[in-house]
Amino acid sequence: MKFLKDVDFKNKRVLLRAGFNVPIENGIIKDDWRIRATLPTIKYILKQPKSKLVIISHLGRPDGKANPDYSLRVVADRLSELLGKEVKFIEDILSPEGDNIIQSLGEGEIALVENIRFYPEEEQGNEQFAIEISHHFGVFVNDAFCDSHRAHASISVIPKFKPSCAGLIMEKEIGELTKALNPPKRPSLAIIGGIKIETKLPVIEELAKVYDIILVGGKIGIEAQEKNIKLQENVILPEDYVDGKDIGPKTAEKYAKVIEAAAFAVWNGALGKFEEVEYAAGTMAVFNALCKADSYKIAGGGETVEIIQNYKKNDCFDFISSGGGAMLEFLAGEKLPGIIALEENA
Ligand code: 3PG
Repeated sequence: MKFLKDVDFKNKRVLLRAGFNVPIENGIIKDDWRIRATLPTIKYILKQPKSKLVIISHLGRPDGKANPDYSLRVVADRLSELLGKEVKFIEDILSPEGDNIIQSLGEGEIALVENIRFYPEEEQGNEQFAIEISHHFGVFVNDAFCDSHRAHASISVIPKFKPSCAGLIMEKEIGELTKALNPPKRPSLAIIGGIKIETKLPVIEELAKVYDIILVGGKIGIEAQEKNIKLQENVILPEDYVDGKDIGPKTAEKYAKVIEAAAFAVWNGALGKFEEVEYAAGTMAVFNALCKADSYKIAGGGETVEIIQNYKKNDCFDFISSGGGAMLEFLAGEKLPGIIALEENA
């Protein structure tokens, strides 16, 4: 796989796939973390002599149809504020107007394309579409780790036709999550919570092969017990609960002690229904124990990142993954289509 430093961007028109799927409510971005996280890659590319940059991303699930509720225009405005420079907006990358904006981009200029999922061909992984959206460009950069579990045109198909490399987020995610798959220090500990057993079970089973201890919480813990799912011996399930919606105090105390003793920890998923205060204690006990612990700590997943951000504790973690489903699939030992494409078509 190639990385930014391996590619000559001089004089090139660059196409960047970013992971700008951010939460938006009533036209306001609720959390711009994924946009800010992409700034180093954007700045790196724009710093190269005479480079020009066009960014594509998706937002939400508009089902292959243009829909103003899923417009990336607010993201273009936010990006422009963050960069302190104009970000042009391309409404339709397949139109003559779109061609025009791309062709007339000057040195160091940047444009963002409207939600790429407005075209049904994106999710179909259509090759012709991938060619059409990338034909203006000399290089393709994928920095959308969080979307790289999708075999979509702008993720896993463009690299078949363009010299491609990984952006800085992608590079860091692969490095850190590879560490999480092969914990370098012992005792190693994984804490897996959340709601959907079908997405978490493969992760628990994979990590249990290499980790010393796996602590399970959240609805998945209850389901594992109710369904009598056979788990490896090093997988610990809660011993008490609060109304079946949070791990109980005994479990929380026991989990906190295990966390204190670990040298390497990975955390994904809340331990209870933390959005209701009466069921937040278990998750907070685990979170606080992690914050205090002196171990190498990796965290990720939508609700997990939300908790860390709400309490402004990003600094307590050595790495926070931008991936939801992508992080889980990676930790379950699956090869992500976006990463395979970069490896095969560098
Ligand atoms: C994410 O936010 O985790 C990704 O953008 C994936 O979105 P999707 O599940 O709609 O493909």
